Amino acid sequence: MIGCRRPAAPTAARASRFCPHLTGGPPANVNALPEPGPIGLFRPMREADLPAVMAVEERCYEFPWSFGVHRDCLRVGYSCWVLQLEQQQRVAGYGVMSVAAGEAHLLNLCVDLDARRCGWARRFLTHLTDIARERHAGVMLLEVRPSNQAALQLYETAGFSEVGLRRGYYPAHNGREDAILLARDLLPLTSGAGL
Ligand SMILES: CC(C)(COP(=O)(O)OP(=O)(O)OC[C@H]1O[C@@H](n2cnc3c(N)ncnc32)[C@H](O)[C@@H]1OP(=O)(O)O)[C@@H](O)C(=O)NCCC(=O)NCCS
Repeated sequence: MIGCRRPAAPTAARASRFCPHLTGGPPANVNALPEPGPIGLFRPMREADLPAVMAVEERCYEFPWSFGVHRDCLRVGYSCWVLQLEQQQRVAGYGVMSVAAGEAHLLNLCVDLDARRCGWARRFLTHLTDIARERHAGVMLLEVRPSNQAALQLYETAGFSEVGLRRGYYPAHNGREDAILLARDLLPLTSGAGL
């Protein structure tokens, strides 16, 4: 396996609530038991996934990472994971994280357009924070654009707090955009803490 140092032990997850994007609309009989949600798993990214990852990246970001950046993340051994939905047998999201010297740095977390608002990003975050804890990280850091309200909501509700600002960190159409630096303490897995 190239890249991720964690052994391939994919974790499966089932969406906990009805997701219109993936099930094609609400059930006709509202009294009927809810349809089971879509099943997905998080598995280590492989180089063979990169074209699919790039397709999602280019759909989802105005200033996407290049193929080379993704490939380098794999090759240097960052923790690179994909979300694969059982129904579609395709890459529906990915996460890239580095863990070193007691700190995890979430570098990329992306869910494809048609898989959003189903709780996958929140589950992905839980998956990545668990890995970070296993690797003895005590804190997770990440940067986010102030204009990225969806991501800010996700991270704030997952317990991240603003700890700094990186001036002119991101490219933007009218020059550069600052990044908000967010951090979250990671309690040891044994504490029984959630996320
Ligand atoms: C941000 C992103 C990863 C969220 O993915 P997602 O799978 O749709 O997120 P979830 O369904 O797990 O939502 C978790 C929470 O995030 C917040 N959220 C997600 N999308 C949101 C939106 N469009 N507007 C406001 N809040 C949003 C909500 O708090 C949500 O909880 P709720 O559904 O209980 O209200 C996704 O929009 C994405 O890939 N965006 C492009 C890439 C990106 O910006 N990544 C972050 C880089 S720092």
